[in-house]
Amino acid sequence: MSKRVITFGTFDVFHVGHINILERCASLGDTLVVGVSSDALNFSKKQRHPIYCEQDRLKIIQSLSFVDEVFIEHSLEKKREYIEYYRGDILAMGDDWKGRFDEFSDICEVIYFPRTPSISTSEIIEIAKTI
Ligand code: CTP
Repeated sequence: MSKRVITFGTFDVFHVGHINILERCASLGDTLVVGVSSDALNFSKKQRHPIYCEQDRLKIIQSLSFVDEVFIEHSLEKKREYIEYYRGDILAMGDDWKGRFDEFSDICEVIYFPRTPSISTSEIIEIAKTI
Protein backbone atom coordinates (compact mmCIF):
# COMPACT_ATOMS: atom_id res chain seq x y z
CA MET A 1 0.00 0.00 0.00
CA SER A 2 1.27 3.49 -0.80
CA LYS A 3 2.56 5.52 2.13
CA ARG A 4 1.66 9.14 2.84
CA VAL A 5 4.14 11.30 4.71
CA ILE A 6 3.14 14.56 6.38
CA THR A 7 5.34 17.34 7.73
CA PHE A 8 4.84 20.87 9.01
CA GLY A 9 6.85 24.09 9.11
CA THR A 10 6.98 27.78 8.33
CA PHE A 11 9.62 27.52 5.58
CA ASP A 12 10.22 31.28 5.60
CA VAL A 13 13.23 32.59 3.60
CA PHE A 14 13.58 29.16 2.00
CA HIS A 15 17.03 27.60 2.54
CA VAL A 16 18.95 24.33 2.06
CA GLY A 17 17.94 23.00 5.51
CA HIS A 18 14.33 23.14 4.31
CA ILE A 19 15.19 21.30 1.08
CA ASN A 20 17.10 18.63 3.02
CA ILE A 21 14.27 17.86 5.42
CA LEU A 22 11.64 17.83 2.68
CA GLU A 23 13.79 15.46 0.59
CA ARG A 24 14.25 13.18 3.59
CA CYS A 25 10.53 13.26 4.33
CA ALA A 26 9.73 12.42 0.69
CA SER A 27 12.13 9.46 0.80
CA LEU A 28 10.04 7.82 3.53
CA GLY A 29 6.98 7.25 1.36
CA ASP A 30 5.11 7.80 -1.90
CA THR A 31 3.25 11.04 -1.23
CA LEU A 32 4.53 14.06 0.67
CA VAL A 33 2.02 16.46 2.23
CA VAL A 34 3.34 19.71 3.73
CA GLY A 35 1.46 21.89 6.21
CA VAL A 36 2.79 25.44 5.91
CA SER A 37 2.27 27.60 9.00
CA SER A 38 -0.05 30.56 8.46
CA ASP A 39 1.38 34.03 9.09
CA ALA A 40 -0.64 34.28 12.30
CA LEU A 41 0.50 30.87 13.54
CA ASN A 42 4.12 31.76 12.81
CA PHE A 43 3.74 34.97 14.79
CA SER A 44 2.32 33.08 17.75
CA LYS A 45 5.17 30.52 17.60
CA LYS A 46 8.12 32.85 16.92
CA GLN A 47 6.93 36.35 17.90
CA ARG A 48 7.87 37.75 14.53
CA HIS A 49 6.10 38.16 11.22
CA PRO A 50 7.47 35.98 8.44
CA ILE A 51 9.43 37.78 5.71
CA TYR A 52 7.45 35.94 2.99
CA CYS A 53 3.66 35.84 3.33
CA GLU A 54 1.85 32.50 3.66
CA GLN A 55 0.67 32.41 0.03
CA ASP A 56 4.22 32.91 -1.25
CA ARG A 57 5.65 30.31 1.16
CA LEU A 58 2.93 27.89 0.08
CA LYS A 59 3.72 28.53 -3.61
CA ILE A 60 7.44 27.89 -3.09
CA ILE A 61 6.81 24.58 -1.29
CA GLN A 62 4.17 23.51 -3.82
CA SER A 63 6.60 24.06 -6.69
CA LEU A 64 9.09 21.45 -5.40
CA SER A 65 9.08 18.27 -7.47
CA PHE A 66 9.03 15.97 -4.43
CA VAL A 67 6.12 17.75 -2.71
CA ASP A 68 2.68 16.44 -3.68
CA GLU A 69 0.14 18.30 -1.54
CA VAL A 70 0.25 21.49 0.52
CA PHE A 71 -2.09 23.27 2.88
CA ILE A 72 -1.97 26.19 5.31
CA GLU A 73 -1.69 25.11 8.95
CA HIS A 74 -3.75 27.53 11.03
CA SER A 75 -3.45 26.00 14.47
CA LEU A 76 -0.96 23.84 16.36
CA GLU A 77 -3.87 22.41 18.33
CA LYS A 78 -5.33 20.91 15.15
CA LYS A 79 -2.28 18.78 14.35
CA ARG A 80 -4.15 15.53 15.05
CA GLU A 81 -7.03 16.64 12.79
CA TYR A 82 -4.62 17.57 9.99
CA ILE A 83 -2.83 14.22 10.20
CA GLU A 84 -6.15 12.39 10.03
CA TYR A 85 -7.65 14.60 7.31
CA TYR A 86 -4.57 14.28 5.07
CA ARG A 87 -4.24 10.55 5.95
CA GLY A 88 -0.62 10.75 7.11
CA ASP A 89 0.91 7.32 7.72
CA ILE A 90 4.15 8.96 8.84
CA LEU A 91 4.69 12.31 10.56
CA ALA A 92 8.28 13.49 10.03
CA MET A 93 9.87 16.59 11.56
CA GLY A 94 13.29 18.04 12.33
CA ASP A 95 14.73 17.03 15.68
CA ASP A 96 14.24 20.52 17.15
CA TRP A 97 10.75 19.06 17.71
CA LYS A 98 12.04 15.75 19.13
CA GLY A 99 9.49 14.15 21.45
CA ARG A 100 6.94 16.92 20.93
CA PHE A 101 4.80 14.88 18.54
CA ASP A 102 5.12 11.45 20.13
CA GLU A 103 1.50 11.77 21.28
CA PHE A 104 0.46 11.10 17.67
CA SER A 105 2.15 7.70 17.52
CA ASP A 106 -1.28 6.13 18.14
CA ILE A 107 -2.39 7.24 14.63
CA CYS A 108 0.87 7.35 12.64
CA GLU A 109 4.58 6.61 12.78
CA VAL A 110 6.51 9.61 14.17
CA ILE A 111 10.03 10.25 12.87
CA TYR A 112 12.52 13.03 13.69
CA PHE A 113 15.41 13.86 11.36
CA PRO A 114 18.60 15.65 12.48
CA ARG A 115 18.50 19.31 11.50
CA THR A 116 20.94 20.52 8.86
CA PRO A 117 23.68 22.19 10.91
CA SER A 118 24.53 25.90 10.84
CA ILE A 119 21.55 27.28 8.94
CA SER A 120 18.15 28.62 9.95
CA THR A 121 15.73 31.32 8.86
CA SER A 122 16.39 33.27 12.08
CA GLU A 123 20.14 33.18 11.47
CA ILE A 124 19.76 34.36 7.86
CA ILE A 125 17.60 37.27 9.03
CA GLU A 126 20.15 38.22 11.71
CA ILE A 127 23.00 38.09 9.20
CA ALA A 128 21.02 40.15 6.67
CA LYS A 129 20.40 42.82 9.32
CA THR A 130 24.15 43.31 9.78
CA ILE A 131 24.91 43.73 6.08
N1 CTP B 1 14.94 22.38 9.53
C1 CTP B 1 16.04 21.52 9.42
N2 CTP B 1 17.31 22.03 9.40
C2 CTP B 1 17.49 23.37 9.52
C3 CTP B 1 16.40 24.26 9.64
C4 CTP B 1 15.11 23.72 9.64
O1 CTP B 1 15.88 20.31 9.31
N3 CTP B 1 18.74 23.83 9.54
C5 CTP B 1 13.58 21.80 9.55
C6 CTP B 1 12.89 22.00 10.88
O2 CTP B 1 13.33 21.05 11.82
C7 CTP B 1 11.43 21.83 10.49
C8 CTP B 1 11.40 22.39 9.04
O3 CTP B 1 12.78 22.45 8.61
O4 CTP B 1 11.09 20.44 10.45
C9 CTP B 1 10.80 23.79 9.00
O5 CTP B 1 11.50 24.57 9.93
P1 CTP B 1 11.31 26.14 10.09
O6 CTP B 1 11.04 26.44 11.52
O7 CTP B 1 10.39 26.65 9.08
O8 CTP B 1 12.81 26.66 9.70
P2 CTP B 1 13.95 27.29 10.58
O9 CTP B 1 15.07 27.62 9.68
O10 CTP B 1 14.26 26.40 11.77
O11 CTP B 1 13.25 28.63 11.06
P3 CTP B 1 13.52 29.54 12.35
O12 CTP B 1 14.96 29.95 12.36
O13 CTP B 1 12.60 30.72 12.14
O14 CTP B 1 13.12 28.74 13.57
